Amino acid sequence: MDAAVSQAQDAAPVVLSARALTKVYRMGEVDVHALRGVDFEMRKGEFVVLLGASGSGKSTLLNIIGGLDVPTSGQVQYLDHDLTHASERELTRYRREHVGFVFQFYNLIPSLTARENVALVTDIAEDPMRPEDALERVGLGARLDHFPAQLSGGEQQRVALARAIAKRPALLLCDEPTGALDAKTGRVVLEVIARINQELGTTTAVITHNAPIAQMADRVVTLTDGRVSSVRQNAVKRSPSELEW
Ligand SMILES: Nc1ncnc2c1ncn2[C@@H]1O[C@H](COP(=O)(O)OP(=O)(O)OP(=O)(O)O)[C@@H](O)[C@H]1O
Ligand SMILES: [Mg+2]
Repeated sequence: MDAAVSQAQDAAPVVLSARALTKVYRMGEVDVHALRGVDFEMRKGEFVVLLGASGSGKSTLLNIIGGLDVPTSGQVQYLDHDLTHASERELTRYRREHVGFVFQFYNLIPSLTARENVALVTDIAEDPMRPEDALERVGLGARLDHFPAQLSGGEQQRVALARAIAKRPALLLCDEPTGALDAKTGRVVLEVIARINQELGTTTAVITHNAPIAQMADRVVTLTDGRVSSVRQNAVKRSPSELEW
């Protein structure tokens, strides 16, 4: 994508906004300060990469913006919904309707085929894709009736991606989606994520340890010890096939 398009995205509306987030985990006598005042936002259609050392707070931040966890203090807003004061039931609804998650380990149900794993989500969504179409989008149209054990790690991760996007979520949140994959397979998964971001306009955040992956992003946010230590806009986005790690 060229610089002009990146600039246009600056003007895109803010979909998700978090202000002054803190998260303290109380472990017996010890307080772990996972987030120490984080401001974070995502604009419509934006591709954000989150970098940072282990323990810097990346997953904590992603879980809070995805409604899986709540901050100790600060505000989170999705469009005109205030998530900070949402009930458990409202958070569940937010996750179900608006957020697709992808984790390092694919969390597929072993006794269900690829199609059935995706159907679990589309059965309860309002305006889902057909499971077949979601799997086609991730390049698995020929593997609909395979069980997870019959698929490679990269293919299982693509089933997990199909499951995440089949409900057409506004936000796609990926925590180390390539963490368990070799570089070549990881690139295929990242290419699918980039394509979904472009074709469906899904606002996307990807956590990674691999700094080169940040070149795929519109914007790169780095966390250090529970704080945002840098935010950088990429003038040029690279395709995963151009990246080495
Ligand atoms: N449920 C929890 N209970 C207690 N402490 C936690 C919990 N979750 C995270 N932490 C602590 O909060 C800090 C931030 O953790 P977090 O998982 O957000 O880091 P991360 O940047 O995602 O790290 P990694 O790259 O290793 O996944 C760490 O010190 C971690 O030990
Ligand atoms: Mg993490």
